[in-house]
Amino acid sequence: MKSLESVVNFAKQKGFIFQSSEVYDGLAAVYDFGPLGILLKNNLQELWWKEMVQRHNNIYGLDAAILMHPRVWEASGHVASFSDPLVDCKECKMRHRADHLLETVGVEADDKMGIEVLNKLLQENNVVCPNCKGELTPARDFNLMLETQLSKTDDSSKVYLRPETAQGIYVNFKNVQTATRAKIPFGIAQVGKAFRNEITTKQFIFRTKEFSQMEMQYFVKPETAEKLYEDWKSSRLAWWESLGLKAENLRYHEHEKLAHYAKAAYDVEYNFPWGWKEIEGLHNRGDFDLTQHEKFSGKNLKYRDPETNEEYVPYIIEASSGLDRNVFTLLVDAYEELDARSGEEDAKHEKEVVLRIHKSLAPIKMAILPLSKKEPLQNICNEIQNTLSKTYMTQYDETGSIGKRYRRQDEIGTPYCITVDFDSLEDKKVTVRDRDTMEQERIGIDDLEKYFVEKFVV
Ligand code: GAP
Repeated sequence: MKSLESVVNFAKQKGFIFQSSEVYDGLAAVYDFGPLGILLKNNLQELWWKEMVQRHNNIYGLDAAILMHPRVWEASGHVASFSDPLVDCKECKMRHRADHLLETVGVEADDKMGIEVLNKLLQENNVVCPNCKGELTPARDFNLMLETQLSKTDDSSKVYLRPETAQGIYVNFKNVQTATRAKIPFGIAQVGKAFRNEITTKQFIFRTKEFSQMEMQYFVKPETAEKLYEDWKSSRLAWWESLGLKAENLRYHEHEKLAHYAKAAYDVEYNFPWGWKEIEGLHNRGDFDLTQHEKFSGKNLKYRDPETNEEYVPYIIEASSGLDRNVFTLLVDAYEELDARSGEEDAKHEKEVVLRIHKSLAPIKMAILPLSKKEPLQNICNEIQNTLSKTYMTQYDETGSIGKRYRRQDEIGTPYCITVDFDSLEDKKVTVRDRDTMEQERIGIDDLEKYFVEKFVV
């Protein structure tokens, strides 16, 4: 049975994800990506970039700075209202999110309900501290933005670590449009770090204080926004499915309460073993963002249609997802425990793990395994690795029985194992084993590159 604990332990043992500063007992809700984790994260980022920028003629890339002018966050509304409703325990002093506490006692709640409603529900349901059963303070709003100073001596030099990458796109709307001569509709995409001072309750990398977002903002003519929103809605869920997430574990969830600026908001949700959770947000943000930045900057951020000369503030359709969060989603989805004896799911005896991750996301694409440590076999392995590693992340492994080495690669999701044996010396062929079907094929060494090109067509 897949549990949060089993995936967390697995991610650490295999070098996907480590607690930040673990030797100092860790920093809460901050994580590091290990040797396999960074490969998986890079692969996901690359596929997203390919889908957004490479495969759309009218979507342009951007890498805006983390630090921005503080007025950006006044215009965006983050200074005034980017907050979580928090309660403190009067006994143990632990801090909790009011809406999350309500959910743990079976009351539906979310952070947009407003403090008064949340406090009423907390009281009506006699909610106490889950840690020590102590009495709680009423809920208050705490701003989630992290701050830093640009000057040691000047107090007015306060800046924020951006809580979302989107604002870097909005304030560059005119720059990108002018530089590329893009015509509406067009999009701007970027992947980058964001920071939020989240109060988290052991959600691993699902909710962290430092994380990366993959955000695409699509600038459209207001009258076309509804139709284009629907188009994005159908393509985004399908994209997650194309990465191997099972259709029955994906759905759209409509926001019950829209943010004041939003015209429509749906989340792509994934069915984790502990419930449906958001993996990507899809919003029709109307003209709110550019109008606000016009107001606060005093600059004209309107678009002039080159054919009609009509000038207007474009509407924005946003597709925003978490890179780290979705590395986690992919790990959870792909993680499978099999019974070591029967090979069936739900291990009753000793368990074996297979990571059935989509091959385009797999950290290591192929392992090269000599049947023995004899030099002539090692030499062939070296040659094969030299050739394949120009295109793919490969791994060489010569320790332990071949069965053990297959298991080791199955565990980290390697789709193909290439075994070099004594026959290879004569027939110049190797055995390629498929992780999922466990079928083995004899392939000529000189044909391997072509063979894998076909296997990795996206
Ligand atoms: N620009 C819109 C925006 O930032 P959001 O729903 O707050 O919207 C978008 O965040 C996505 O970013 C979420 O769907 C989630 O995948 C990811 N995300 C948000 N907060 C996160 C956190 N604390 N840790 C990890 N990922 C987070």
